[in-house]
Amino acid sequence: PSCVLAYSGGLDTSVILGWLMEEGYDVHAVYVDLGQPCEDRAATKKKALDCGAKSSRIVDVQEELCRDFAFPVLQWQAKYEGWYLLGTSIARPLISKVCLEVAREVGADAYAHGATGKGNDQCRFQLAAEALNPAVKIIAPWRIEKFRKLFPGRTEMIAYCDKHNIPVKASVSKPYSSDENCLHISYEAGKLEDLNVNGVETVEFGMTVTPQKAPDKVEQVKIAFEKGVPVSVNGKALSPLQIVKTLNEIGGRNGVGQIDMVENRFVGMKSRGVYEAPGMTILYAGHRVIEQLTMDRDLMHLRDSLSPVVAEMVYYGFWYHAKMDALLAFIKDAQKHVTGEVTLNLYKGNIQVDGRNSPNNLYDEGIATMEGGGSYNQTDAEGFLRIQGLPGRVQGRTTPRKY
Ligand code: ARG
Ligand code: SIN
Repeated sequence: PSCVLAYSGGLDTSVILGWLMEEGYDVHAVYVDLGQPCEDRAATKKKALDCGAKSSRIVDVQEELCRDFAFPVLQWQAKYEGWYLLGTSIARPLISKVCLEVAREVGADAYAHGATGKGNDQCRFQLAAEALNPAVKIIAPWRIEKFRKLFPGRTEMIAYCDKHNIPVKASVSKPYSSDENCLHISYEAGKLEDLNVNGVETVEFGMTVTPQKAPDKVEQVKIAFEKGVPVSVNGKALSPLQIVKTLNEIGGRNGVGQIDMVENRFVGMKSRGVYEAPGMTILYAGHRVIEQLTMDRDLMHLRDSLSPVVAEMVYYGFWYHAKMDALLAFIKDAQKHVTGEVTLNLYKGNIQVDGRNSPNNLYDEGIATMEGGGSYNQTDAEGFLRIQGLPGRVQGRTTPRKY
């Protein structure tokens, strides 16, 4: 039999590669490039071959990740449990898609990944893969007792690599685990498991400076949106990935987008995570500002009522599902007037609005003005409130409230 392996080049997936071969599989290693740090891509690709993989490849899908995955989630203004911008969650279905494309090409019927049986990632990898190919066989070694007994800890994994001449980087094991892509970096586990530990002081952030260390002066950034899609930064038209990268730089040096939260995993447990997403945090703010000008009130409120639903779907891993298809079709239509330009002031982790404009601006100074005149007739509000107040007045007569 043969299988594809979502391969990172790290210790876990290197050991898994070797173990799958021992289990009799031809292994096709797939390194899905989402912008994670990798000193040497060619070496990573070769490393899988040196470990005995039948084939090894690197597939760069960073543009796709931003354009077709992160940006629709941005248009939804979706944040899991109010805070988390879903940087890891949204990348998982794309990893599965790429791996299944390779599986089809090489004729593999199994898909292996290195996520544990305790987390969210296993859910996303599997739910996406099975929705794309219901016949696929999922191999999650960490959920197999035999595998866990062989590798109870890092020491056993390193010993295994030594024995099989798998090069392991002499990296000092970090005091926490992290997941990085072009959208964000997440930090969990290890030292961070203790809630008494200050998260943002413990983590060595890779994209952002501490707000306290950011410059003592405001930095302005101008972002243009077309139909809810960011298209330029500071007047320069850029690709989706370039926009995210540029804003990561700008937001990063101003300490934007660090959070520390306790979140509910799909598997039921609460877990503690620290995140940094400077570029996406700026985009969420800027996008909301343009919506404030261009979006119909009731449409916005409907969208806002559904944002937590979308966040939950993405977080759990139901990306390739009927409900998500419909939600994505909805947001595409809902964003068709969200075009305009916003200037934001960044200062030590804060984001404030400097200015905004749009060809579809629904804000009408003539209506809104507090000055006399204008096109709004205050007498109309008499009837409006007579009718709005009707149920309350009836109830107030029938069952009076104490006050
Ligand atoms: N808690 C976040 C999420 O569920 C981050 C997960 C990080 N995954 C990892 N393999 N380090 O999306
Ligand atoms: C893992 O358990 O593999 C990482 C954390 C998560 O998936 O939530």
